Amino acid sequence: MAKVTIDGKSIEVPDGTTILNAARMIGGDIVPPAMCYYSKLKGSGGKCRTCLVEVSKGSEKDPRPMPKLVASCSTPVMDGMEVGNATSAKVQDARKGVVEFLLLNHPLDCPVCDQAGECDLQNLGYEHGLVSTRTHEERRTFEMEDIGDKIKLHMNRCILCYRCVYVADQITDNRVHGILNRGDHSEISTYIHNVIDNDFSGNVIDVCPVGALTDKTFRFKSRVWYTRPMDAHRNCDKCCGKTAVWLFGDEVLRVTARKDQWGEVEDFICNTCRFDKKSLADWTIEGPRHIDKHSVIAQNHYELPELEKVKTLK
Ligand code: SF4
Ligand code: FES
Repeated sequence: MAKVTIDGKSIEVPDGTTILNAARMIGGDIVPPAMCYYSKLKGSGGKCRTCLVEVSKGSEKDPRPMPKLVASCSTPVMDGMEVGNATSAKVQDARKGVVEFLLLNHPLDCPVCDQAGECDLQNLGYEHGLVSTRTHEERRTFEMEDIGDKIKLHMNRCILCYRCVYVADQITDNRVHGILNRGDHSEISTYIHNVIDNDFSGNVIDVCPVGALTDKTFRFKSRVWYTRPMDAHRNCDKCCGKTAVWLFGDEVLRVTARKDQWGEVEDFICNTCRFDKKSLADWTIEGPRHIDKHSVIAQNHYELPELEKVKTLK
């Protein structure tokens, strides 16, 4: 076991635990944001730098501070380590820089983006972004692409976090998409424009932290904060069948996997549940899904009135 102190709060964690996961065990405001790390995807992390922290004491044995800020998602704790995140001015300053960098080529199209309201980059922008841009260069642009008949790729919004590539690699058979080219020409693309056509490909939509991969069956149907997320389940022979259905009236506008407090999918779901079961009769509604209090979705305060309605749906 190793004892680590993050923003003055201490915890003992098993050796090999990363600083980010130790912070998640403590919980609250001290947890660094993570745009590329995903606990359910092996090898993820280390790409986006939003999780940088300051290590002011390396360990009990070697108390020297680490010379540079480190990525908390890929740095293991050492016994006696002391870490600054929310309390470190250096980290807050660096995070502003990272957000500015991520937004360099990102279009400011939140008003028309389906991810608005549940976009990690939008949230980071609110917390750490500059009020105005310092660049006047043209943004990198790509044509929009259809990845099969259900998924839309809007590459201009991609931050190259690689999560979708890991999903395709680890959750689906026969990956046919990945990142092509180098530097600012890098782009997510399908191999010779093959479609992603297998049972679990829709999960790339749920792991995408921005609006680069969106569900074509839901695009432009509603802003997410006008919909009511409900836990629902059905008997499915391909996946766990436990999902969140997003209702507008009694209409199922979209189906997603359920996400935990870190915005990560709890259980990956199959495409049949996600794309083909859009009738209320397909689902047993369990009740309103609790969405993190910082989310704009929660502002509608749908939960209490919904509990009453669920009784009638049942
Ligand atoms: S498309 Fe989304 S999930 Fe895939 S690399 Fe880009 S930002 Fe990440
Ligand atoms: S979450 Fe750590 S580098 Fe992206």
